[in-house]
Amino acid sequence: MCIVLPDPCLVVLIGPAGSGKSTLAARLLRPTEIVSSDAYRALVADDPRARDADADAFALVHRVVGARLRRGLSAAVDATNVHRGSRRTLLALARTHRRPAVAVVLDLPEALCVERDRARGDAAVGAGVVRAHRRLLDRALPGLDAEGFAQLVVLRTPEEVDSFQVVRAAASTPEAG
Ligand SMILES: Nc1ncnc2c1ncn2[C@@H]1O[C@H](COP(=O)(O)OP(=O)(O)OP(=O)(O)O)[C@@H](O)[C@H]1O
Ligand SMILES: [Mg+2]
Repeated sequence: MCIVLPDPCLVVLIGPAGSGKSTLAARLLRPTEIVSSDAYRALVADDPRARDADADAFALVHRVVGARLRRGLSAAVDATNVHRGSRRTLLALARTHRRPAVAVVLDLPEALCVERDRARGDAAVGAGVVRAHRRLLDRALPGLDAEGFAQLVVLRTPEEVDSFQVVRAAASTPEAG
């Protein structure tokens, strides 16, 4: 599958830990476009998995995303985004800056995510965390269409993820309204 990515836009990656969000983002997007919650946890807490650093890390994620969108640059949020509230905040940021939000969902089987997570060794979050993300994603999927994304892509197999491509549309002026 190939989609036309409005440029600039906000890409919202959605998927459990271990589903391959960071890997996909690195393949498709410019390094400076990728705003990663792990990277900001590492910056504020010296630990990319420090849950107690979420408030500080996400404040910075949102600040950087807002700055990029305001400056006419695309941004991609590399975080699980399986909670409704996290997506709502990002959609509001895109609206504020009048840029379209594109959701890319990695709807891969729990067992595959768990296996990939386990293979990360010390960096693994564990099967329980992956399962919790998977449940939240299952709950979110039926309503994602209605959340306000300009485009919604749901990738359901590793093959679909690996063959997924984006091309960029010409730079656009902010959307009306
Ligand atoms: N398309 C792929 N094919 C094979 N292995 C993959 C693929 N995508 C990711 N992996 C492997 O799965 C593991 C998890 O991938 P990745 O770190 O991209 O997941 P993630 O969704 O970003 O997880 P987290 O939410 O914990 O950051 C990595 O070891 C990665 O090498
Ligand atoms: Mg990641």
